[in-house]
Amino acid sequence: MSESLKNGSVFEGTPPLISLKGVSKNFRKSGRDVTVVDDCNLDIAENEFLVIVGPTGSGKSTLLKLIAGFEVPTAGEIRVGGDIIKGPGADRGMIFQEYALLPWRNVLKNVELGLEFKGAENEGEKKDLAMKYIDMVGLSAAENKYPVELSGGMKRRASLAMILVTKPKILLMDGPFNALDSKTKMTLHTEITRIWEHEHNTVIFVTSELDEAVKLSDRIAVMNKAGRISKIFRNDLPRPRLGKAALDHDFHNRFIQLREEVLNEVKAGAGRAVCEY
Ligand SMILES: Nc1ncnc2c1ncn2[C@@H]1O[C@H](COP(=O)(O)OP(=O)(O)OP(=O)(O)O)[C@@H](O)[C@H]1O
Ligand SMILES: [Mg+2]
Repeated sequence: MSESLKNGSVFEGTPPLISLKGVSKNFRKSGRDVTVVDDCNLDIAENEFLVIVGPTGSGKSTLLKLIAGFEVPTAGEIRVGGDIIKGPGADRGMIFQEYALLPWRNVLKNVELGLEFKGAENEGEKKDLAMKYIDMVGLSAAENKYPVELSGGMKRRASLAMILVTKPKILLMDGPFNALDSKTKMTLHTEITRIWEHEHNTVIFVTSELDEAVKLSDRIAVMNKAGRISKIFRNDLPRPRLGKAALDHDFHNRFIQLREEVLNEVKAGAGRAVCEY
């Protein structure tokens, strides 16, 4: 069922929306250069849902920051829509491992902030649009609450709305549902899938949870301890995959099989690093 694919071009015939060629990133640590992302080649199609997994420290967040334009590659190039990226852009919205809400602003004002960055000034329009996305992430009763009054799951939802309101073509999500309870996580899986299907974004989603990877992805890229993409799995499980669909016997078996294949690849690339899978 799952077909492991060579790194690189996957969707023959249609140009990729995002293309990484020979991308490496070195950081200076204790006086020497350390390669944390090494020669990554990856094409991502428009409206694809790509999930990146790998052991801790394998360079997943760094790779996402490179695509966001917050970091500059030491070697190689990253193109979006054919153009080499030169820094962050409104076409790419990033949700960080740690959510980033301003504590002195309530949910509505935090979400409006996304629009203010884009130069929106009309108060009425800002509020209407912000409320649409607050509603979309299921926070409509909490728009007047401040971050300190929100649960972890609500903070994640608020950060999601803050990015979604800017309508980025590309959503870069770094462990957005880490450390949430399983019920909240299930709800957010349904919501992110619905938003992705409705808004046609291209999503690159980092996680340390393989169930999450198999539930959400079109493909799963595995990074290893050396900062390389060791393998890319195509996930051909039929959608919808959440709720009742998951109870089907055949679906369940295929789900477990793909999860196992990805797990073996992650373990093989983890070296002696602590592997949380
Ligand atoms: N700005 C930086 N300066 C120096 N080293 C860095 C910097 N950013 C990341 N690193 C190092 O790069 C390596 C990869 O880090 P990264 O955060 O990309 O890993 P990760 O795969 O996202 O890990 P995790 O699963 O724990 O989130 C780590 O060894 C980290 O210490
Ligand atoms: Mg990380």
